[in-house]
Amino acid sequence: MSTLSPEQALDLLQWRYAVKSFDSDKKIPDDAWETLEQSLILAPSSFGLQPWKFLIVDDKNLRVQLRDASWNQAQVIESDRYVVFAALRTTTDEDVDRFMARTSEVRGTPIENLAGYRNVIAEFLLKGWAAKDLFGWNARQTYIALGQFMTAAAAMGIDTCPMEGIDMNGYDELLGLKETRYATLCACAVGYRAADDKYAAAPKVRYARDEVIEHR
Ligand SMILES: Cc1cc2nc3c(=O)[nH]c(=O)nc-3n(C[C@H](O)[C@H](O)[C@H](O)COP(=O)(O)O)c2cc1C
Repeated sequence: MSTLSPEQALDLLQWRYAVKSFDSDKKIPDDAWETLEQSLILAPSSFGLQPWKFLIVDDKNLRVQLRDASWNQAQVIESDRYVVFAALRTTTDEDVDRFMARTSEVRGTPIENLAGYRNVIAEFLLKGWAAKDLFGWNARQTYIALGQFMTAAAAMGIDTCPMEGIDMNGYDELLGLKETRYATLCACAVGYRAADDKYAAAPKVRYARDEVIEHR
């Protein structure tokens, strides 16, 4: 694996910003897009349950409708790609069984050997601290995927704008999620910044290190 120097990693984090104006003519190369989809698939989640669905919206008409449900934010239609992040509304024993079946398939572990782990997770879903709000728990996992996605994009010189200024309910309707087990959380516009996006040069507004990082 090739790694970045500390300076390069910091440069990458400084370079990324929430793009307001995308260059609609610039397309993400196929191999880079493939890596970005992998960054979603490879995102970590609690117990590895992957309580999410990522909808890549290619249809231009649908993008216009989503823009209308996003405070008219231009990023929705100007970016090359648009990803909607959805999370499971709840998590059930069937979801745990699905994960165990996949684990058995990928790792070649007999399913009966996974019974103990299965029960630990099922018990947690029923009585653990997350039990009161499984959607909230699933949402937090899904936001980790958003973060990984944006950083992977920046590592390849690809811009993003995370988007929560959206009507989640309207998205659910437009995307046909109402009758599914998934609900919209947020979205991410992906592509290349327009040369005249003034936000690119704006200094980052962040609290001082000692206000956010404490050593104990
Ligand atoms: C979850 C989330 C939702 C956001 N929603 C929007 C949005 O709807 N529209 C927008 O222009 N920026 C949105 N932003 C971008 C933030 O305003 C931006 O990340 C923040 O001001 C820090 O600036 P920077 O990312 O450019 O460093 C969102 C960011 C996050 C993390």
